[in-house]
Amino acid sequence: MARRIAVLGSTGSIGVQTLDVARRHPDKVEVVALAAGRRAEEAFAQAREFDVRCVALGSEPRFADVPEGVDVSVGADAVAAMATHPDVDVVVNALVGAAGLRASYETLRAGKVLALANKESLVVGGDLIMPLAAGLDADMRARGVGSARGLAGALMPIDSEHGAIYQCLIGEEAREVERLWVTASGGPFRGRKREELADITPAQALAHPTWNMGPKITIDSSTLMNKGLEVIEAHHLFSMPYDKISVVVQPQSAIHSMVEFSDGSVKAHLGTTDMRIPIQYALSYPERWDAPVEPLDFTKLGSLEFAAPDTDTFRCLALARAAGERGGTLPCVMNAANEIAVAAFLAEEGSYLGIAECVETVMERHDVQDVESVEQLAEVDAWARALARENIR
Ligand SMILES: NC(=O)c1ccc[n+]([C@@H]2O[C@H](COP(=O)([O-])OP(=O)(O)OC[C@H]3O[C@@H](n4cnc5c(N)ncnc54)[C@H](OP(=O)(O)O)[C@@H]3O)[C@@H](O)[C@H]2O)c1
Repeated sequence: MARRIAVLGSTGSIGVQTLDVARRHPDKVEVVALAAGRRAEEAFAQAREFDVRCVALGSEPRFADVPEGVDVSVGADAVAAMATHPDVDVVVNALVGAAGLRASYETLRAGKVLALANKESLVVGGDLIMPLAAGLDADMRARGVGSARGLAGALMPIDSEHGAIYQCLIGEEAREVERLWVTASGGPFRGRKREELADITPAQALAHPTWNMGPKITIDSSTLMNKGLEVIEAHHLFSMPYDKISVVVQPQSAIHSMVEFSDGSVKAHLGTTDMRIPIQYALSYPERWDAPVEPLDFTKLGSLEFAAPDTDTFRCLALARAAGERGGTLPCVMNAANEIAVAAFLAEEGSYLGIAECVETVMERHDVQDVESVEQLAEVDAWARALARENIR
């Protein structure tokens, strides 16, 4: 039976690639609901192509050319409602930013599989999401769902690094895992020093060397904030303490991440740099379906390089790790400040180096609390955004 999916953020980079996976596997994936932000026309075109009856939009469309028979709803509640739609089995959360937390939370609460690209959900609300995921995983396992050698698959990471680690861990004992190695491309400014980054423009930062992604994650990749968010994501997803999660720069992006075991063995996951592979795996697990892309040609790959990240220059990685280690509401604050600072940089209202400065200032001013609820996190997030706006440099 086909997996019935909702794609939240369907007009974005991950959303469009998810629909491409669905297009290639019509017998295995049925798209039943879509959610997007402002690009209503694109979302409606997707609804026509995939014969989708439910579309939610983050904001009111400027002009309405609604396809016949399509139910369109507007607003944050409508977007979250797509996650709990009774016809949906799997929710692909490809929204961007902390705005995706609510959908992740509602998905798991409704007992649906969460295929998660929106890493900010886990950064901000990992303490709320992971117990729900563990509960659903146990339920699914009791129903005989999933692989005999791995998790049942209640929460499938789409991030290529976490998809890689997920696969390396299948069949392994958690107590024998020594370290997670999260790989990083190093971004477009790898090798530069801090003083050389002062005049970086949005156009320069948007030119990522190996991945073609949405603007927010592309800037995060250039500042290494993305890697910091991924360290926190890995901590939650795989219950690993921070001192056992290392970042290594691997500029070719051929190794998507690695797991080191207590006997010194290391498993690495390699593949073509195409997000459709991890997206498809998140939908196919525990099966594997035919690849939508050319496999990696090792004879053309040449050498593989590795280096330690430069956290003096790329301070966002160190700030995110510090926020994760402190825990509680600090990652929420760190993430919110980063979202505001990145948006300001993209709008040419703030500088590139000002991103880390803003994040640090807002983190320093926060009295950390334990995470209690989605509502509490929304309040903390709003506080951090307001303070970040006052600290754009
Ligand atoms: N791109 C990648 O290769 C990649 C890889 C790993 C992880 N991720 C993660 O995946 C997530 C999405 O990244 P992306 O690169 O796909 O971002 P993106 O291209 O900017 O797409 C974001 C999507 O979210 C929608 N959206 C934004 N605000 C919304 C709102 N208020 N209500 C409803 N929809 C809203 C956008 O709709 P409109 O465009 O219609 O406004 C768009 O469809 C991020 O968390 C990112 O870190 C991405």
